Amino acid sequence: MPRRPAKEPPSELVRHEWAGRIEAEYRSAAITQETVLWLIQIGASPDLVRAGLRIVDDELVHAEMSRKVWSAAGGEALAPLDRGSLGLRREHEVLEHDVVSAIVKVFCLGETVAVPLFANLRKHTTVPVARRALDRILKDEVRHRDFGWTCLEWLLARPDAEELRGVVHRGLDGWLRALEGNYGDDLQGGIRGVTPEERAWGVAPWREYAEILHRAYTRDYARRFAKLGVSMPALPAS
Ligand SMILES: [Fe+2]
Ligand SMILES: [Fe+2]
Repeated sequence: MPRRPAKEPPSELVRHEWAGRIEAEYRSAAITQETVLWLIQIGASPDLVRAGLRIVDDELVHAEMSRKVWSAAGGEALAPLDRGSLGLRREHEVLEHDVVSAIVKVFCLGETVAVPLFANLRKHTTVPVARRALDRILKDEVRHRDFGWTCLEWLLARPDAEELRGVVHRGLDGWLRALEGNYGDDLQGGIRGVTPEERAWGVAPWREYAEILHRAYTRDYARRFAKLGVSMPALPAS
């Protein structure tokens, strides 16, 4: 049998992206773990708590799978995790206010846009190890998104719902702006151009992230918040 020529390792961009994803998955695990603790402290139903615990485990699986992709791409030494970002900070005096903020920021906003973002990455991914990771991540993100909206619905059915609704109204503008900083028009230093090989490893250019985020404003956020009686502020993208 003729030997196939050894494949060139993928570019530094691929390793850099997947290293960032390993850290992002650790961050998701830490933040979800803390949210789950807060849900226990405010007496959320065991079903909700268990759904949250399952998400923590999913995020660890995502970190493991992302590490395999990074290593298959030639990654050798990972930078230490940024511990300062691996957790949540109390910002309100009332714990329920921090819970509703975390649920909206992390799950209703973050995990909801994560679904079309990962679907877009996965669509062009043909390298098996990367495709396997994105298959699993995308499947889980749908459940993580639903967890957020179920938690918010539960919170807004409590006797303190009006107070919590006020926290969401006051916070939404800043949280949407933060999303613009992560994925949208305000992103500094996003990926400009991507080669077909980098795409095959699950890397996409920043412009696509911004388009998907802006589509999520009307397609997902406005519609889902309206169902719960929460109105969206004027969109940062408009
Ligand atoms: Fe994840
Ligand atoms: Fe997630």
